[in-house]
Amino acid sequence: MLRGKNIIIGICGGIAAYKTPLLVRLLKKRGANVRVALTEGGSRFVSELALATVSEEPVYRSIFPPTHTEGTDFTGHISLGEWADALIIAPATANTLAKLGAGLCDDMLTACFITLRPGKPVLIFPAMDGQMFLSPSVQRNIKTLATQGCRLISPESGELASGQSGLGRMPEPESILGYLEEELFSTTQRSPLYDKSVVVTAGPTREKIDGVRFISNYSSGKMGFAIARAAAKRGARVTLITGPVHLETPFGVERLDVESAAEMHSAARRFFNSSNIFVGAAAVSDYRPLAPYEGKMKKDEQEIVVTLIKNPDILAEFSLQKAPGQLAIGFALETETGLDNARKKLLEKKLDLIAFNFFDRKTSGFEVDTNILTLVGSDGVTTELPQLTKDDAAGKLLDAIEILCRSNGNNTQKK
Ligand code: CTP
Repeated sequence: MLRGKNIIIGICGGIAAYKTPLLVRLLKKRGANVRVALTEGGSRFVSELALATVSEEPVYRSIFPPTHTEGTDFTGHISLGEWADALIIAPATANTLAKLGAGLCDDMLTACFITLRPGKPVLIFPAMDGQMFLSPSVQRNIKTLATQGCRLISPESGELASGQSGLGRMPEPESILGYLEEELFSTTQRSPLYDKSVVVTAGPTREKIDGVRFISNYSSGKMGFAIARAAAKRGARVTLITGPVHLETPFGVERLDVESAAEMHSAARRFFNSSNIFVGAAAVSDYRPLAPYEGKMKKDEQEIVVTLIKNPDILAEFSLQKAPGQLAIGFALETETGLDNARKKLLEKKLDLIAFNFFDRKTSGFEVDTNILTLVGSDGVTTELPQLTKDDAAGKLLDAIEILCRSNGNNTQKK
């Protein structure tokens, strides 16, 4: 399975680095192409010559190439990450974890971490003294990296270099190889969403009444962001068009920030032809003030009338003109028992799937971290999901979208 795969091993300054030439050998024996990115600290524990000999490649150290050598690759700090099918960092020290978490980029290891293509597995094996490993700062960096999609493998317990015994040992090279095979195997069992272009709208929109006031709603964007995150994890190329929210951009997702429905509409239209799957998770304002007041309205009048006009229905516009193979997925947020309304929206907008959710602000709908979705397909099949975190609910929705892709003969057009 590893034959022909391009693997980078990033080696940091921990005693377990002395085992890494064996890891390189194991990978080479299985037919992988291996390149090593060695940190300054790593070079104190394992020789560059040993690693170059077993990998049959020069070892990568500095991002600054020599300028007087013939054939120098001046952009090697980019091409190394682009070359890789997977990155293993073993052992990973507290220092390198902090650099990776913060996005620092001062040697080849940290550079190739940043330039690695989205969706490529990153396996990180922290190895250090047990107290260091459990320290709040190391744990915080581990959490940050895990939320970016890296797989962090906990160190093993046993004898440590300090003479004490406890948590902190790097797993043996054979078991690191096992983790890599498992990770690559799971990505070769590719989701039908892999390399598909998925556009997700999320969050509320704001419709200006005057220069300082707007009409909006309680949408937090959490559901749309969870869908974008889950789709990127399955290897999709995700564009997230979001109204004003306070959320971090999911790893590997391209984000476009907009404010009004009109802005969301024109941002989304750019993707109508090229997207394979369009998910309308935004709570788009249905109406906007016809003539927003320039500047700030004064409270001179007892009563004012704001005339509202209808906004374009972004999802419906995409769906009604979609090409064969493109999929349109919507949400229906209802305050009354609204499954019938959801079915009506599915039919009227010619959607492939609609996720009905009830708005109670406790267990589902706007702002909260959980959702209770009922998925209704265009074939009428209805699936009631239990109360789930929005990440898990997004996973279930994507499972249903994957089924649609497969029944499309997996030919949801790749543009
Ligand atoms: N939607 C959209 N553009 C709009 C309104 C809605 O793209 N101007 C999308 C939403 O993102 C959602 C679906 O259409 O996926 C349904 O939105 P919802 O607000 O539940 O229903 P509406 O179609 O707006 O109808 P109503 O407000 O009458 O319930």
